[in-house]
Amino acid sequence: MSALPERSDGPAVPKVAVVSGGSRGLGRTLVERLLADGWRVATFSRSANAFTTAMTEEYPGSFHWERADLGEPDAMRVFVRTVGRLFGRVDLLVNNAGVLHQELLLTTPPKQIDSLVTNNLTSPILLTQACARLMTRHGGGNIINISSINAIRGFRGVSVYAAAKAGLDGFSRSLARELGTFNIRVNSIVPGFFDSDMTADVTERNREKIQHRTPLGRLGTAEEIADAILFLTSARAHFVTGQSLVIDGGITC
Ligand SMILES: NC(=O)c1ccc[n+]([C@@H]2O[C@H](COP(=O)([O-])OP(=O)(O)OC[C@H]3O[C@@H](n4cnc5c(N)ncnc54)[C@H](OP(=O)(O)O)[C@@H]3O)[C@@H](O)[C@H]2O)c1
Repeated sequence: MSALPERSDGPAVPKVAVVSGGSRGLGRTLVERLLADGWRVATFSRSANAFTTAMTEEYPGSFHWERADLGEPDAMRVFVRTVGRLFGRVDLLVNNAGVLHQELLLTTPPKQIDSLVTNNLTSPILLTQACARLMTRHGGGNIINISSINAIRGFRGVSVYAAAKAGLDGFSRSLARELGTFNIRVNSIVPGFFDSDMTADVTERNREKIQHRTPLGRLGTAEEIADAILFLTSARAHFVTGQSLVIDGGITC
């Protein structure tokens, strides 16, 4: 048996995945791997880029990108309505897009707090609601919320982001209880630091500190986080729901 988790359950009838923030970072990696595994994939971000343009050309009929902003919660329902019209169903939702703004709470303006909660919690909840309604009509589904180790350990300057991510974990657990009866699983993936645009600003000194505190001695990669997500989409995880799976090289152990 391969040391890597098996491929996502590459379907005979293409299943449909919704991945928020699929233009860069972890979302992009997931979109690439799901498309390669035969899924139809719908994603959104605030702007198109060379990747979304290339996927649109390479996977006509199987890939859909459109502009949508987590900062506009009503856009979530509109996006899922379009996905329903285009692909007819949703089998997998990965609430991947997130917004990190680092600032001490004492100086954070209320608007910034509101925006962090809207982007990282309210909009993912609304996206989930719209997707879950479609899933109930087609025999079930799989919802994966991308949290952060900030939700389970304290770090300076990220208290509001951490609160939103911890909210997402609590949301996953309670929703798993509500949706299990519809054959819908709900889990959180809790990544540690991995290389992406979001961590591009980490100073060399902080990067060394993180590496030093991580038993495996390095930052993760988007591929490694995607491996865990694809495990949750696979047949090997069909009895897993309501859980938070930490993928962090051991930094929180
Ligand atoms: N990187 C890490 O070390 C780390 C650690 C723990 C958890 N996470 C979590 O993992 C997830 C993926 O992170 P990442 O590092 O891959 O992020 P990233 O490289 O910054 O990519 C974020 C993606 O989300 C989209 N996005 C950002 N803001 C958006 C908005 N307001 N509306 C719609 N789309 C938006 C971006 O496209 P546009 O900018 O064009 O909108 C992009 O496609 C996030 O939930 C993050 O909180 C990351």
